[in-house]
Amino acid sequence: MTTLTTQPGTAVAHRLDEAVHLLPQTDQLRALHTIVRDRDARREDFVFYTGRIIRMLTEAALNLLPFEPHDVTTPVGRTYRGLRFADKLVGVPIVRAGESMEAELRAVVPGIRIGKILIQRDRTTKLPSLYYTAFPEDIATRQVLLLDPMLATGGTALAAIGTLLELGVPEQNIVFVTFITCPEGITAVRERHPGVRIVTSAIEERLNENAYMLPGIGDFGDRYFGTD
Ligand code: URA
Repeated sequence: MTTLTTQPGTAVAHRLDEAVHLLPQTDQLRALHTIVRDRDARREDFVFYTGRIIRMLTEAALNLLPFEPHDVTTPVGRTYRGLRFADKLVGVPIVRAGESMEAELRAVVPGIRIGKILIQRDRTTKLPSLYYTAFPEDIATRQVLLLDPMLATGGTALAAIGTLLELGVPEQNIVFVTFITCPEGITAVRERHPGVRIVTSAIEERLNENAYMLPGIGDFGDRYFGTD
């Protein structure tokens, strides 16, 4: 176990364990975060540079999936003892913000099946309700990349994970891919679903009284899609 936060100098630290995969905090990643966290960032820059980080997250999530041996013959007639994905995959964006992550997943896994799940939080009670789902009928046998850029209170994530479990998806087959998160969100998911792995590019200091992460990025969906 490592104790660390991605916010240098903050008092709040978070215990990372084997289920929480934080992207290496390189200078390049911090520079990309600097662009997209700036309140004055232009929307096209926000979309472009969050896309670059989402690509990194997608690659990191794919690294966690099971692989099996797969040999091929090279053009010079030798055998390359390779690997391929052991199971079929599905990406499941949580509508709407999660859809911002779909293009990068499609770009690296051409033809990947894409499900959908629409969960909305009541703006006052903050409680999540399930409105709509669409999944491949064999989802229980697939590795699921659950996509939502914000893991804040964990309410939406828990509702989405609960829906997948009801369909027979084992916790161990779910990788929750999230742009940024915070100790509250990680704890909510880890306590209820210890088998679910989380991939993120930053762990924030904490939530504020309106359930926004600090220092945070603001409303990801509004900034990405240009709505208020
Ligand atoms: N959703 C967001 O878009 N931003 C936050 O900080 C928390 C939840």
